[in-house]
Amino acid sequence: MMTKVKVGIAGCGIVGIGVVDILQKRFEEFRELYQVELELAVVVVRNIDSDRDIAFDKAILTTDLAMLDNVDIVVELIGGDTVAKDVVLNAIHQKKHVVTANKALVAKHWDILFEAVRGSQVMLKFEAAVAGAVPVIKTIQESLIGNKIEELKGIINGTANYILSEMESRGESLALILKEAQDLGYAEADPTFDIEGFDVAHKLCILASLAYGVKVECEDMYIQGITDLEVKDMAYIRELGYRIKLLAIAKKYEKGLDVRVHPALVPESQILGAVSGPYNAIDIKGHASGDILLYGQGAGRYPTAGAVVGDILDIARCLQKEQPLPFFFSERKKAEFIPIEDIENRYYIRLNVSDQPGVLAKITNIFGEHAIGIASVIQKEVVLEDQVPLVVMTGKAREDNMRRSLDEIEALDTVFGSPTLIRIED
Ligand code: HSE
Repeated sequence: MMTKVKVGIAGCGIVGIGVVDILQKRFEEFRELYQVELELAVVVVRNIDSDRDIAFDKAILTTDLAMLDNVDIVVELIGGDTVAKDVVLNAIHQKKHVVTANKALVAKHWDILFEAVRGSQVMLKFEAAVAGAVPVIKTIQESLIGNKIEELKGIINGTANYILSEMESRGESLALILKEAQDLGYAEADPTFDIEGFDVAHKLCILASLAYGVKVECEDMYIQGITDLEVKDMAYIRELGYRIKLLAIAKKYEKGLDVRVHPALVPESQILGAVSGPYNAIDIKGHASGDILLYGQGAGRYPTAGAVVGDILDIARCLQKEQPLPFFFSERKKAEFIPIEDIENRYYIRLNVSDQPGVLAKITNIFGEHAIGIASVIQKEVVLEDQVPLVVMTGKAREDNMRRSLDEIEALDTVFGSPTLIRIED
């Protein structure tokens, strides 16, 4: 028997057009393959006359959000967390199922959204909110549900990864490459979210909440973006056999959770080190599974739209069988977080020092006093008269010890400017 489901979309930008296109083109296939008729009943937009580069029935376009009252599934693709939040909450209160690609909304308003959903039989799905086409939510929530997740590490912002890859290979500025990423449709409406790490942080809130069943919010994590990275470090780092990646990291220890977002050196021999362009990858380590690596397109029209349509079909299948979605916890427990100062890492440090005997000894001495071992030191060619860059790779050290030692090193009269610090994840 054919299950008929009316779908309404709110917001028809880059991803929305992709969803409309897939729903239209695969309409018959879905009927034949799954006995599901996904009728695209309404698309709510801000401006009906905007240019939309695919052909579709303009009669379903409206500016009236109330038209969503007549559908079974509301697909929220507006973005942001003001109007989008009202649309989603209103849909839930009206017992409509919801699909959203909005990570900021889910990350910031998880408790409110799932409180509204609880006990209601309403399904709220958000696969496209993290890593575009990469099925990471489903993997954590369903495939790995029997595992305790020990850690996850991911490259989950396509724009930032595209920028870093292009800066490394072409030596161009961040601003120029960001513009390209925007033109390619990877970037957020406000691209500072991509480059300052907030987009990654929102996604990490969602992943860590799902992986550990606890409440993780942006305020709980250390967040650093890619804007301070310099092209010259990328060249040095390549020589050392590493790449720079903006990483989302969540690790579980006895004493709490370590969650953070920052650029890090990743060995080029590791799979994460080889992920370039707008691609995303997430390494999830389960206590039983060991490492699982997911890789794919994390941004852009069709990769993201495909994930949205997957969620719509999941809901349709449940409606067809009159069964709710697989087990899903929604109430998150309180977690203990480990501050970054207490975390141990290896570090890449670049200093600009005076080209004279004894300078290195003073620096290594300070590191030694703070229990920081040195793995290697490379002196690069002279850049300015009597100034040389010194690249130090350290052993494992506590972040607070590293910060204290860099304060002392910066105060030396043979060290110029501020040291560059990049953490190493290997
Ligand atoms: N701006 C995001 C990115 C889009 O570049 O990854 C997908 O969330």
